[in-house]
Amino acid sequence: MEIIEILREASDRIYENVKHLAGTDHAAGDFGIGAGGDVSRNIDIVAEKTVLDYLKEINFECIVLGEECGRVDLSENPKGYVIMDAIDGSANAVRGVPFFCSSLAFATEDKLSSITDGVITNLDNGDTYWASKNKGSFFNDVKIQVHNKDPIYKIIGINTSGASKELMRRMDAIFENHNHHTRHFGANALEMAFFARGYMDIFIDLRDKIRIQDIAAGYLIVKEAGGLLLDANLKPLDADLSYETRVSFIAASNQEILNEIMSHINEC
Ligand code: IPD
Ligand code: CA
Repeated sequence: MEIIEILREASDRIYENVKHLAGTDHAAGDFGIGAGGDVSRNIDIVAEKTVLDYLKEINFECIVLGEECGRVDLSENPKGYVIMDAIDGSANAVRGVPFFCSSLAFATEDKLSSITDGVITNLDNGDTYWASKNKGSFFNDVKIQVHNKDPIYKIIGINTSGASKELMRRMDAIFENHNHHTRHFGANALEMAFFARGYMDIFIDLRDKIRIQDIAAGYLIVKEAGGLLLDANLKPLDADLSYETRVSFIAASNQEILNEIMSHINEC
């Protein structure tokens, strides 16, 4: 079985197991602080267990790096890492806001740049975004590309959750500009998938807060859809897979929109 098929099957199983949970009291149950540093909710635990059970069932030899469960070695001879955010957008999922997803990626080394496969599943409806290295990005079975025409409305995705005053001040000019329709939906991985599908012209997260689990699958899906994916210094995004690592990134559909938006971000 191809790795992408394994990740897709695991994602489908998450959807089946959590689709009736969102917004219920049962979703919210508190399981203490997870490996990623946030409170693990019952819906997170159900989703992670689904993946772990499936990988064990098929004897997939790997190391799992889960946002809640931490590192789980499923073999002494692992083929690589499964980077798992079983529920991205947990706050939305617990409240029942229909914007949350799973994010599963496979990396051969301890580096984002070694990711070969990624799957993001919209857990509100089961839609799947997926990519394998050098094979393109797909929405269900349709190939997707970032938006490359001159947009009628410029949609600028910006993650502002918990952003510092200083960062908000640096981005003032973006918010003030009437041609920029800014958006923030609350599940970074699904926002990266939406960007890859052409729903946004640029998606920015400069908070230095995002974990590897939240962006691993999106990393490949954005790149395979033809997006530019850069760090805060406008260098190609890369990072190790450690639990301490936090990144900032900019996903842009082309150099022109990147230049335009960066010209509105002050250094200060
Ligand atoms: C969160 C979401 C959210 C982002 C937070 C993340 P989680 O992931 O991606 O959009 O603003 O920084 O922690 O905690 O729901 O997996
Ligand atoms: Ca999560």
